[in-house]
Amino acid sequence: MTRISVFGLGPVGLVTAVCFARKGNHVIGIDLDLDRLEKVRRAEPPFFEPKLKEYLAETITNGAFSVLDDASANVRSDLAYMTVGTPGTEDGGMDLTYVKNAARVIGQSLRQATRYQLVVVKSTVTPGTARTVVKPILEGESRKTAGKDFGVCSNPEFLREGNAVHDAEFPDRIIIGSEDPEAAMRLESFYKEFHGQSIPPVVRTTHENAELIKYANNAFLATKVSFINTVANIAERTPNADIKAVAAGIGLDERIGSRFLNAGVGWGGSCFPKDLKALVAFSKTLGYNPGLIDAAIRTNDQQKLRAIELARDALGSLRGKRIAILGLAFKPDTDDMREAVSISLVQGLLAEGANVTAYDPAAMQNARRIFRNTITYAEDPYDCINQADCSIIVTEWDDFKTISPNEFAKRMRSPVVIDGRRIYDPDRFIEAGIQFSAIGLGPRTSQRGQQRTAKPFVHQSSTPGKKP
Ligand code: UGA
Repeated sequence: MTRISVFGLGPVGLVTAVCFARKGNHVIGIDLDLDRLEKVRRAEPPFFEPKLKEYLAETITNGAFSVLDDASANVRSDLAYMTVGTPGTEDGGMDLTYVKNAARVIGQSLRQATRYQLVVVKSTVTPGTARTVVKPILEGESRKTAGKDFGVCSNPEFLREGNAVHDAEFPDRIIIGSEDPEAAMRLESFYKEFHGQSIPPVVRTTHENAELIKYANNAFLATKVSFINTVANIAERTPNADIKAVAAGIGLDERIGSRFLNAGVGWGGSCFPKDLKALVAFSKTLGYNPGLIDAAIRTNDQQKLRAIELARDALGSLRGKRIAILGLAFKPDTDDMREAVSISLVQGLLAEGANVTAYDPAAMQNARRIFRNTITYAEDPYDCINQADCSIIVTEWDDFKTISPNEFAKRMRSPVVIDGRRIYDPDRFIEAGIQFSAIGLGPRTSQRGQQRTAKPFVHQSSTPGKKP
């Protein structure tokens, strides 16, 4: 049994804490937000994340996990995880206020500690932060020496919202950055015990590499999505092309891989936008402008408004038109609206004089805080599309996949559907008399070169063979 403190009970900290607690460790969670602590104490997840509710109920009830607003209990812990947020600043940089505060309180509690403690930096921080910011604060506050009295490791997380519990339990790899072999060895031993037989590859490296791996990981994935969205824009203008078939084709190349090739209305969330901007800003402080990452961000900014162009193509002026937005969260299975594409899209539609009605299965409460009374909130997806001039799919929730083309045709004033996440079969919609457009779907022509409505060539062979 390991005694663990987790500083910061946001999506990463809380999920990490309950997963550790479920495996027989004794975990205390520390956060300054008293409302959040009260909810967690009552085993109510402060945000939506699959499996979190049951894990929280189990570990709070059996006492393996408890929460406090006072950091002094950390003195008895073997591991202190730092999982506080690093919000973006106006200039695209990174706000280290919470990281510095956490380092200060951990350092102060270390002053009283009689045993070795390992401080694990899981917050996303730019390269050099653990070595030049966290470690000096810990040493100053504790009046002890890192590498002797306590250890410091960088240990970035790769949890996806909506899959965070699964990702915490079954990570692809564990990255441990440290200049202190004893600290790295202790953290690796803890993970060996935690994961048992299913431990993934462990990479031991420097603090700076670990920190850069986190940013490079998110930058690569976001760039991959911006790349496929760029090709989608080409496909949309190419007769008989469809980005789904193109993505399936290139995804079978093992060097490319099929994941994160879903073209759509763009990427959002609390991580990609913030982390890419922070990486660009960090890089510029080193005198290098990373053009590719900048381009991925700019491509995404344009992509977020692509659905408005498609709506204009179908309806002409959007002034006074009723637009139904299906999906507001930045992706399915979360209620998170941070940097959601829906925000730019709705604001763009309102600026053009459209009347917006929106529905999301989980994010309505968060959406109300953002859009207030500028839009209408629907009761369910069917209520949302009633009397609409155009429906736009913004988040690929399962609830929307089952709405039939006939429902759209029956309920809408003019049945224009824009599939921003490619969840529908174009043929079925076109056959139902719907004016259907979708990200990455080119115009179709008959053999004689006329516009027609048949399906483009999306063919997936049964078993992809290896190249000779
Ligand atoms: C992302 C990373 O995937 C995690 O590994 C990382 O730990 C996390 O950021 C973080 O830094 O904490 P997350 O933001 O939860 O996770 O969401 P993703 O599943 O990566 O999706 C990000 C955005 O890309 C969403 O808006 C999604 O709709 C979009 N996306 C994703 C696409 O448009 N197409 C795709 O093929 C995949």
